[in-house]
Amino acid sequence: MVDTAERYRRFAGTEARGHSPTYELLAEAVAGDPGLLALIDELPPAKRQPNLLLGAVRFLGGPVVGEYPAFREWIVGHWPEVRDTMRERRTQTNESGRCAVLLPVLARLDRPLALIEVGASAGLCLYPDRYRYRYDGGAAFGAADSPVVLECGTTGAVPLPDRLPEVAWRAGIDLNPLDVADPGDVRWLECLVWPEQRQRLDRLRAAVGIARAEPPTLVRGDLNETVRELVGAAPAGATPVVLHSAVLAYLPTEEREAFAATMRSLGCPWISNEAPGVLPAVDRLLPPASDRLLFTLALNGRPLARTGPHGQSLEWCEHTSADTT
Ligand SMILES: C[S@@+](CC[C@H](N)C(=O)[O-])C[C@H]1O[C@@H](n2cnc3c(N)ncnc32)[C@H](O)[C@@H]1O
Repeated sequence: MVDTAERYRRFAGTEARGHSPTYELLAEAVAGDPGLLALIDELPPAKRQPNLLLGAVRFLGGPVVGEYPAFREWIVGHWPEVRDTMRERRTQTNESGRCAVLLPVLARLDRPLALIEVGASAGLCLYPDRYRYRYDGGAAFGAADSPVVLECGTTGAVPLPDRLPEVAWRAGIDLNPLDVADPGDVRWLECLVWPEQRQRLDRLRAAVGIARAEPPTLVRGDLNETVRELVGAAPAGATPVVLHSAVLAYLPTEEREAFAATMRSLGCPWISNEAPGVLPAVDRLLPPASDRLLFTLALNGRPLARTGPHGQSLEWCEHTSADTT
């Protein structure tokens, strides 16, 4: 297992670099600070994540700016609160922007749709019909007057839809559903958006407003234990579609495989949008990625595209996947 110092160093060098100078600087400094690492190591391994520490400090009002001494001193002085927040909270970043990469897949399914999102967080990816979309800087289309406009750059023959999917029903499952009506939950979601990403923060707030007007049905539970029941609860006449993004990485390999087996046996459309390596049987059907942070978008285990982790890009490669040659 990777030790905590290496975890923070990798986070700084591969995830934060180019996206958040503040997080890159702080994570790199934590990686070289044995005293702070010893505190973090009081937590179980799954709770030592850089995003969780940085989000918790911001949530508690600590100084998450580009200055390590003040950040460190504050954590040491408030360690019991920081530790408890890291224990209680999870990295549940909810990114409505991912709907921009899900949309072309949703648009090819028989309508109306009954959307079932596993690992839904606050459910913001359950509203693809309530957002507007702009691909490659072109004209925006989608829900008239929506305050959420999702920008996405594409390459390849993306089958861009000319209309929105019709959603008859939406429901989600999460180990810890977040409530868009709860100010503490919304503040936590805001603290998970990296400091320099103002556009993502504005998007989050606008998407929360949409979800508040029509709150999603969110079930508390483990996706493997709950998905079958939720698919069975979809209304007659609608196509049940199970979707997930940035979720299966949190499960051990055998639970990911169990979920994939359940999806194959359920036989309803299954859209996955996950980091590379999370579903190796899917990744194997694609040529190696140019950027190792790109997710793989697949329908029923068949890869369609590589996607930007927040839905900012869509690289269509459906016809280059090995099973279609
Ligand atoms: C990074 S968030 C992604 C949220 C959302 N899918 C999105 O793309 O914006 C991952 C979510 O998966 C949930 N999760 C992780 N393991 C789970 C499990 N075994 N069953 C249900 N939800 C789970 C977490 O609680 C968290 O809310």
